[in-house]
Amino acid sequence: MRVDRFLSNLPQFNRQQVRLLLAEHRVSVDGVVISDAHHDVREFSLICVDDAILQAGKPARYFMLHKPQGCVSATSDPQHPTVLDLLDEPDKAELHIAGRLDFNTTGLMLITNDGQWSRRLTQPQTKLPKVYYVQTEQDIGPEYAAMFAKGVYFAFEDLTTQPAELELLSSRTARLSIIEGRYHQVKRMFGYFDNKVIGLHRERMGPLVLDAALTPGQYRPLTDEEIRQV
Ligand code: URA
Repeated sequence: MRVDRFLSNLPQFNRQQVRLLLAEHRVSVDGVVISDAHHDVREFSLICVDDAILQAGKPARYFMLHKPQGCVSATSDPQHPTVLDLLDEPDKAELHIAGRLDFNTTGLMLITNDGQWSRRLTQPQTKLPKVYYVQTEQDIGPEYAAMFAKGVYFAFEDLTTQPAELELLSSRTARLSIIEGRYHQVKRMFGYFDNKVIGLHRERMGPLVLDAALTPGQYRPLTDEEIRQV
């Protein structure tokens, strides 16, 4: 939201007063004096006029989890443990998952309360690669890479997947880089060749790589540098 809108929504200021406050350099956001009425503020911003705090700004939170097999990427589930059950954090109801993984898929899972940040990570428009280590039941043929680069047609959604990059590691293992996150996308791409995915592990989302020090089920907060990279 624009800072002038935020301020003029408050009962104490009208629009003209807000213009004046900004012109007089009396407004600060996160400790920096702001005069641009269009400056973007969020629920995480500390907003002051003179020395008065008008919004304290709630902390933005970001975690990296090594998702183990056998838990669901949901905030609650009647039957199975969820990834949020693995977090020992307050106010878990405010957190959401940036890019779900299937029940038996392992690997990098990012959890945050910052919707803008997680959208940047998951929206296909930002073209951030999601990189998976894939193990298959049958041999991976030489024709797979060309097909994945061209795009696989998904009849249910009536769409063709965005170009994806396949790197063959052995006859039945590969690294696949995709920029979307369609439902069961990797399994369905290999399903095109009737080849069942028997192991799936997400190694990376955009610039963020799963920390090798995290064993399945462990998590840690992201560093400031990691948060900034997205
Ligand atoms: N693609 C899948 O099929 N499953 C996942 O968990 C992630 C991507």
